[in-house]
Amino acid sequence: MSDRYLEFTQSGFGKTFASLLGLPTPPRLRRADAPWAERPLEGVPVLIGGDSRATLAEPLLAALSGMGAVLRIAPEHAGLAPIKSAAAKRGLTLIGNPSEASGEPRSQALIFDASGLSSPAQMREVFDFFQPLVRGLPANGRILVVSRAADVCEDVASKTMSAALRGFVRALGKEIGKNGSTCNLIEVGKGGEAWLDAPLRFFLTPHSAYVSGQVLPVTGGSGKPVALPGSLGGKVALVTGAARGIGAAIAEVLTREGARIVGMDHPSQEGPLGETMARIGGHGLALDVTAPDAASRIANEVGARFGGLDIVVHNAGVTRDKMLRNMSAQHWDMVLSINLAAILNINEGLLQKGLNDGARVVCISSIGGIAGNAGQTNYASTKAGVIGYTEAMASLMASRGGAINAVAPGFIETQMTAQMPLAPREVGRRINSLSQGGLPQDIAEAVAFLASPASGGINGRTLRVCGQNWFGA
Ligand SMILES: NC(=O)c1ccc[n+]([C@@H]2O[C@H](COP(=O)([O-])OP(=O)(O)OC[C@H]3O[C@@H](n4cnc5c(N)ncnc54)[C@H](O)[C@@H]3O)[C@@H](O)[C@H]2O)c1
Repeated sequence: MSDRYLEFTQSGFGKTFASLLGLPTPPRLRRADAPWAERPLEGVPVLIGGDSRATLAEPLLAALSGMGAVLRIAPEHAGLAPIKSAAAKRGLTLIGNPSEASGEPRSQALIFDASGLSSPAQMREVFDFFQPLVRGLPANGRILVVSRAADVCEDVASKTMSAALRGFVRALGKEIGKNGSTCNLIEVGKGGEAWLDAPLRFFLTPHSAYVSGQVLPVTGGSGKPVALPGSLGGKVALVTGAARGIGAAIAEVLTREGARIVGMDHPSQEGPLGETMARIGGHGLALDVTAPDAASRIANEVGARFGGLDIVVHNAGVTRDKMLRNMSAQHWDMVLSINLAAILNINEGLLQKGLNDGARVVCISSIGGIAGNAGQTNYASTKAGVIGYTEAMASLMASRGGAINAVAPGFIETQMTAQMPLAPREVGRRINSLSQGGLPQDIAEAVAFLASPASGGINGRTLRVCGQNWFGA
């Protein structure tokens, strides 16, 4: 469904009209239109700073130069010593940030290594870096802060500062969303340094257009890190609810990255499923996720054609909204069985037979499961359950060399949200830092990123893709 208000405010007249009335003018988001590139930041200036005790400059600079970025620094910034010494070790050139008057392109991303912060007074270094730079951030710019996760901080003050950065990032995301820019935080835990490349690529490119205000912990993964580009080539992926909406977009983006798709949907959707699979060259499987034997039927179908599964995306879901006092037991049972029980049942079966070693599972949750919405006691229970399930299963999946993560969409333009009454639909679209709904592609990009073995440092996490929705933030 198209967002007519967004289209209107992007015309000259609409923009003036909306600003005169003080109404939101949603920015046009730059989204990915090609597979993950080897050098997605070729020639793109990014400005890097850090606190004066920062320890992650080396992996950060290595990843950024590998992406082709032009590395800039603000020469007057106090915390440059770790950045300069890491650059010297790697033989990388750092360029002073040009003045606005120079006519040089502005830095597309501001990256700050805050891994050495250990007192409130040192937060001043964060302020000193960003305060003069933030107003120069261009449209669709990126701000990324990288910190130490609390569990690897040595003392109470460092743990406190790790948490303080979360507040900083969430607040700044709300300030810069107006021009389509995003602000996120990567928290590096034990062994996470080696696994930074993929999350940096995700957050610094248009693949994360609708992700802002988020905190993503990255730790050590199993095996050796692999590069994100090309990492899904030949992988076999099951996507449930693949006939339309978010599931179809997930199947498309995974195909774009080279995966082979088994798209599953309810038998009543066999026609649309066939059309979607024909478009992307995928294999359709008309099967109800709630069928008690769903896992063995999937395993048999996939086994015969492809061997086994490398990726499972649990996307099929329904809403049956009513205030609890008016909700029927039938609608309660239906939502619980499709959105939650089916995921547990299918995974349990596939863990016995059907999953390859190293398989990565991605479950689709919802911000409704984080914040809770009136009229959605059934739906919110399932979507919160998905988050808990993801956490609970992480160590088992890791013991098999794989991982399980969840994506929690905000308001996404699909048939599900098109069915909402006008007023809540319009409110739902605007109450986020980017003042618009996301597209199915936005969820699909996050799923593809988490489905990749390059995201080996991410397990048991929930990534919100919600434009920094104001609920449950
Ligand atoms: N659209 C949003 O704003 C939004 C927000 C948060 C979360 N989500 C979640 O994203 C997922 C996809 O949502 P969507 O907006 O694309 O919805 P949608 O209704 O457009 O698509 C859901 C798909 O799941 C399939 N499905 C439903 N029951 C099934 C069953 N028993 N067996 C097999 N397939 C079944 C449907 O046929 C459909 O193709 C859902 O889990 C939903 O809860 C969506």
